[in-house]
Amino acid sequence: MNQAASTDISNTATTAKVTLTPRSLAKSKTITIRKTRFQAANLTEQYSKSPLISHFLTALSMSFPRGEMFFVDTIKNVRSEIKDPSLKADIAAFIGQESMHAKAHDQFNTEIQSADYHLKRFDAEIDKEMARLRTLSKRRQLAATVALEHFTAMIAGYILTHPKLVQQLPPNMASLWIWHAVEEIEHKHVAFDVYQTVFNNLAQRRRSMRTISLGFIISNTVMTSQLLWQNRKQSLGSVKQIWANLQGVGTLAHMMVSLLPEYLAFYKESFHPSEIDHTPLLARWREELVKKEWVEV
Ligand SMILES: [Fe+2]
Ligand SMILES: [Fe+2]
Repeated sequence: MNQAASTDISNTATTAKVTLTPRSLAKSKTITIRKTRFQAANLTEQYSKSPLISHFLTALSMSFPRGEMFFVDTIKNVRSEIKDPSLKADIAAFIGQESMHAKAHDQFNTEIQSADYHLKRFDAEIDKEMARLRTLSKRRQLAATVALEHFTAMIAGYILTHPKLVQQLPPNMASLWIWHAVEEIEHKHVAFDVYQTVFNNLAQRRRSMRTISLGFIISNTVMTSQLLWQNRKQSLGSVKQIWANLQGVGTLAHMMVSLLPEYLAFYKESFHPSEIDHTPLLARWREELVKKEWVEV
């Protein structure tokens, strides 16, 4: 499936509804909207060998439904100012992909939530932060999206370059993360190009990246730690698990160190997401998505 999309989605993703309409816009040449075969059923809190990695991925997932609908809205705020047909098509595809991601992660979050594993506890705080961001100017909102999209593209690139991180997950979960990672890389330029076209403000882009970085790192560390603690009987109960968690710390530290050059590149005046060449990686994993039947085609 590769079609322009229109969406009918409320600001809270818990009621997210995705409507793909017959094409009313040109197709994006590089972004494909795919339907994942991920099933939000029979999930366990620990799906990775390292409990820490499970809780880290779940913490990321918690913020996706609301976060990704915020990204969509910040682009919709200024969409009418975009005249380039190719970028307009990419925006439609971006909206389609992010809406699908929000929906899938919302289903995952709802299914994995339990009496002992309170994901929904964070919803109020995420809502509060989203409401605060929505009071900012359109330029600052979009700059926040650009910064966060750089984070998602960096993490997606890391996942696809080091697939051991997700290949050890049950196939159902691996399919969710690889599908999402592929599409994050496919659309990594969209928010950036919209921002450059409409605002082209370097100082704001840098400022927003600094604040978003702090918020992203702190909030994910807090959420991961809280989930680990909620699940402590299973996650911290034996020497084997503690060792697996330490290996998980090593993986996250390796990810942060390896992504540092890509992170710092964002602050350059001449930066563009396409300068991080993901072309061969993307080609390989697009194929894999189809070969493993992880997406509907
Ligand atoms: Fe996404
Ligand atoms: Fe994205």
